[in-house]
Amino acid sequence: MEFNEVIASRYSCKKYDTDKVISEQQLEAILQAGRLAPTAKNNQAQRIYVAQSPEALAAIDKHTPCRYGATTVLVVCWDKNGVF
Ligand SMILES: Cc1cc2nc3c(=O)[nH]c(=O)nc-3n(C[C@H](O)[C@H](O)[C@H](O)COP(=O)(O)O)c2cc1C
Repeated sequence: MEFNEVIASRYSCKKYDTDKVISEQQLEAILQAGRLAPTAKNNQAQRIYVAQSPEALAAIDKHTPCRYGATTVLVVCWDKNGVF
């Protein structure tokens, strides 16, 4: 798919099928895109945590009402000690 088509067809999903789980292959492709994102001076300070267990998803629900039933949540953080 051309990049312009990706931009034009993107949308915000606010209701997920609670019985569907992303495949390992799909998850790895998304994580790899995150790894390839530009970082200042390539310091790679981003840390991406994958939450899928019932315990992890419940912990996320304590902090935000915005999971919308998703069975996988990526928590994107940064290592402040790795930034200049
Ligand atoms: C400042 C700001 C605050 C937002 N807060 C929320 C929020 O609390 N909950 C939520 O589900 N989405 C939130 N969003 C995301 C928007 O609802 C929406 O999904 C996003 O801007 C993409 O818009 P579109 O897909 O409708 O074009 C926020 C967006 C912005 C810019």
